[in-house]
Amino acid sequence: MAQVSTTLTSSELTPTSAIRREDFPIFNEVEQKPFVYLDSASSSQRPLVVLEAMDRYYRSTHANVHRGVYRIAEEATALYERARTHLGNFIGAPDPSREIVFTKNATEAANLFVQGLGRRRLDATSTVLLTHLEHHANLVPWMILKEQLGFAIRYIPLTDDGRLDLSDLDQLLDGVSLVGVSLASNVLGTINPVAAIAERAHLAGALVFGDGAQFVPHNTTNVVELGIDALCITGHKMLGPTGIGALWARHELLEEMQPFLGGGEMIADVRLDGFTPNVIPYKFEAGTPPIAEAVGWECALSYLESIGMEKIRHHEVELTRYALSALEEGLGDAITIFGPRDPESRGAVISFELKEIHPHDVSQLLDQEGVCVRAGHHCAKPLMRQLGVAATARASLYLYNGHEDVDALVGALQKCQAFFR
Ligand code: ALA
Repeated sequence: MAQVSTTLTSSELTPTSAIRREDFPIFNEVEQKPFVYLDSASSSQRPLVVLEAMDRYYRSTHANVHRGVYRIAEEATALYERARTHLGNFIGAPDPSREIVFTKNATEAANLFVQGLGRRRLDATSTVLLTHLEHHANLVPWMILKEQLGFAIRYIPLTDDGRLDLSDLDQLLDGVSLVGVSLASNVLGTINPVAAIAERAHLAGALVFGDGAQFVPHNTTNVVELGIDALCITGHKMLGPTGIGALWARHELLEEMQPFLGGGEMIADVRLDGFTPNVIPYKFEAGTPPIAEAVGWECALSYLESIGMEKIRHHEVELTRYALSALEEGLGDAITIFGPRDPESRGAVISFELKEIHPHDVSQLLDQEGVCVRAGHHCAKPLMRQLGVAATARASLYLYNGHEDVDALVGALQKCQAFFR
């Protein structure tokens, strides 16, 4: 994989200030000081309004949904359903109140799609197309189903600068029924040309499942413009709580899909000789759902909308531009940065290696300077093998990060280098 080599002119190095960092209590209340949080690709922080919305819900409204006919049960149901429709609108779903299935996280949503539709559409003669930069959530569910049904999996390879190599795409798509592709890589930051892939996949007769975990929190998302057929997302990477994610799929696909989990709520009727599933989306939501989490996630959506996804994207592009340049200038040949060099074609995720220092050592030494980055395989072991490394360190930025966080990272990496010299 190519090392970053281009340098920017000083006029392109405009420092970028964090957006409303004061809204996020953790930056004041965390005991670790200094505290430079650069791990939002793993999980974001959340603003006070989200914490308050969940607290208020539990204090004043909580009851189970879709069951009671008393006032707070109806209010809780209305809040839960409002969150569903809001999320559908946030991603441009054509039928927002019916096409969003709440799950535990993006991984569960991917498993739901793969098992639910894969079992309908795939058999031993089928082929699925994935890519070399998927994280485990968009690999292992397919591999599990492959073991059960015996179909083939092909992969779109990568170029040297960490983009999908689409030069043989039509050949790779030949005979493919389902394509799984992430909208943005959690390791390389690469934003994939999913609309173009979906167009060609549809011409080849394949459906496209998009993994939006790393894209939706940072960009305006419109599933119709992307031309995809299904999408998984998660709340905790976009200022919402942990414990909730969602699958969006076109409603006719949700109608076709088999339920994945059985139990209460997902049924219309149960007899001793069988059951009749509920209508979509409820037929996929077995058991008591994450109600307070839906309330919190909806509040996070409103918060993101109040800032504007375009503004957030612009901030991240500029901050990434600043970071790539500052890392390169501050560390020279000692750093290898993976992924595309152009900040416009990547998210604010920067994976790197410091020469002859293990990423776990880097992460631990950065922690001593109060800088939080993730080190490891980032749940993308096949990609690590492609890159020829066992692990990388990864700094990931969000709206509450600013140039001073990048400066702290560079300073801490320089100390780390000096420590090992
Ligand atoms: N896939 C998540 C990450 O990249 C957990 O950190």
